[in-house]
Amino acid sequence: MTMDPAVSGLAAPAEGAARYHDTVVRQFSLMAVVWGVVGMLAGVFIAAQLAWPELNFGIPWLSYGRLRPLHTNAVIFAFGGCTLFATSYWVVQRTAQVPLFAPRLAAFTFWGWQAVIVAAAISLPLGYTSGKEYAELEWPIDILIALVWVSYAVVFFGTLGVRKVRHIYVANWFYGAFIIAVALLHIVNSAAIPAGLMKSYSAYAGVQDAMIQWWYGHNAVGFFLTAGFLGMMYYFIPKQAERPIYSYRLSIVHFWALIFTYMWAGPHHLHFTALPDWTQSLGMLFSLILLAPSWGGMINGVMTLSGAWHKLRDDPILRFLIVSLSFYGMSTFEGPMMSIKTVNALSHYTDWTVGHVHSGALGWVGLISMGSLYYLIPRLFGQKKMHSIPAIELHFWVSTIGIVLYIAAMWIAGVMQGLMWRAINPDGTLTYTFVESVKATYPFYVIRVVGGALYLAGMLVMAWNVWMTVARGRSVTLAVPTAQPA
Ligand code: HEM
Ligand code: HEM
Repeated sequence: MTMDPAVSGLAAPAEGAARYHDTVVRQFSLMAVVWGVVGMLAGVFIAAQLAWPELNFGIPWLSYGRLRPLHTNAVIFAFGGCTLFATSYWVVQRTAQVPLFAPRLAAFTFWGWQAVIVAAAISLPLGYTSGKEYAELEWPIDILIALVWVSYAVVFFGTLGVRKVRHIYVANWFYGAFIIAVALLHIVNSAAIPAGLMKSYSAYAGVQDAMIQWWYGHNAVGFFLTAGFLGMMYYFIPKQAERPIYSYRLSIVHFWALIFTYMWAGPHHLHFTALPDWTQSLGMLFSLILLAPSWGGMINGVMTLSGAWHKLRDDPILRFLIVSLSFYGMSTFEGPMMSIKTVNALSHYTDWTVGHVHSGALGWVGLISMGSLYYLIPRLFGQKKMHSIPAIELHFWVSTIGIVLYIAAMWIAGVMQGLMWRAINPDGTLTYTFVESVKATYPFYVIRVVGGALYLAGMLVMAWNVWMTVARGRSVTLAVPTAQPA
C-alpha cells in the first residue's frame, strides 16, 4: 500500500521551471459555482411549480415543460461539466507533471462550453428541443458540443501523451473513459436530419430510437455523472486525507469492470415497452452485476481513510468527499434493485425514480464536486485555505439535511403513488383515481421544496466563501516540478 508517486508530495520547483496552465482551471472552477447556483435555483423553482402550479404565471417560457430541461442541462452539463473540466485539467497536469498540451485549445474548450450553456439557457425556455431527455439541444448546438468535446480529448490525451511520469495514475483512466464515452454517446445519439435552423428529426425511428436514446441516457449517468466523478474521487480523497489510495489493484479491477458493465444496462429504462423482452432482461442482469464494481469503487474510496478516520471530525472538505461516497453507495444499491422488473413495475413513472436520481445527483455528484472545488479554489488563488472554514461546515450540514429531506420525501411519495395506482377493488375497479394520488403527493412536494431550498442555500454560502477567497487571493501560476519523484 505505497503512495502512488503521482499523488504523493511533489518535489520543490526549480528556478525557470515550466509552469502549469491553470487559467482554464480557474475559469472552469468559478463558472462551476456560478452554474451550480443557477441550475439549483431552476431546480427549486420547478419543484415549487409542482407544488404551486400558479408559478407558471401563464408565461410559456416559464412553463414547467421548458424549465425542467433547463434545470437538468444546467446542473448536469454546466455545473457538473465545468467541475469535470476544471478537475481533469488540474489532475492530468499534476499526475503527468507537464503543463497542458495545446493551451489555446483548452481555452477554446472553456469559451466553447460556456457558449453551449448560454445557447441552452436561451433555446430551451424558447421551446426549442429535440425531445430526447438529456440531449434536448438542437443540432447547431450539438455540433458545437462535438467540436468542444473533440478538442477536450485532444488536450487531455495530448497532455498524457507528453507526460514525464511513465505511469498513468488511475484518476486519468476514469477521466479518459468519460471523455471517450461521452464523445461516442453524444455523436451517435444526436445524429439527426435538420429540418430548419432549430428543428431536426432523429436519424433513428421507433423502438431503435428509444433504445439508442437510453443507451445514451444510461451511459450519460455511467460516464458523465459517474466515471468522471470517480476520477475526482481517486485524486482528491487521497490528497485531502493525505493517505494513499486503499488499493491500487482494486482501482484497476474497478475501472475495467465498471466501464464494461455500464454499456449494457441501458434497457432497464425501457422495461415493459415494445423493446424485445430479452433485451430488457439483459439490461436488468447487467444492472445487477453493476452493483459489484460500484461498491468496489466506493469501498476503495472510503477505506482510503483507514487509520485516519479522525480527520473526518475536523475536516469538512474531507466530509464532503466521504459522505458523497455514502450517497454513491446508496444510489448504486438502489439502482440495481429498481432495475429488477417486478420492482420497476412499482417504481417506474413515480417519484421514486426522482428520489433515486437526486440521491445520486445531490448526494454523490453534488457533494464530491463541492469537496473537490473547496480543495482547488484556495490553491488556484494562492491561498492556504478557503476564506471561512465554519462556512464550509455550515454548507455541509445544510446541504446534507436538504438531501435527506428531498430524497426521503420522494421515496415515500413514489412508493405511495405506485401502490395507489395498482390498488384494485374486489370487483376489479381501481381503488383510487389518479387525482387522489396527486393530492396525497402534495405534502411531499412541499417538503421537497424545503429540502431543495436548503441545498441551494448551501450553494449560496459556498458562492460567498469562494468570492471572499478569490477577492483576498491572486491568480498564481505554479511551477511544474523538475525533479522526478521516486
Ligand atoms: C436545489 C437542488 C435541486 C432541486 C430542488 C431539484 C429539483 C428537481 C425537480 C423538481 C425535478 C423534476 C422532477 C419531475 O419531473 O418530477 C428535477 C429533475 C432532475 N434533476 Fe434536479 N434538483 C436539484 C438539483 C439537481 C442536481 C444538482 C442535479 C444533478 C447533478 C439534478 C439532476 C436532475 C435530473 C437528472 C432530473 C431528471 C430526473 C428524471 O427524469 O427522473 N438536480 N430536479
Ligand atoms: C449501479 C448503478 C445504477 C443502476 C443500476 C441504476 C439503475 C436505474 C434504474 C433502474 C432507473 C429507473 C429507470 C426507470 O424506471 O425509468 C434509474 C434511473 C435514473 N438513474 Fe440510476 N442507477 C444507478 C446509479 C445511478 C447514479 C449514481 C445516478 C446519478 C448520479 C443515477 C441517475 C439516474 C437518473 C438520472 C435516472 C432517471 C433517468 C430518467 O428517467 O430520466 N443512477 N437508474
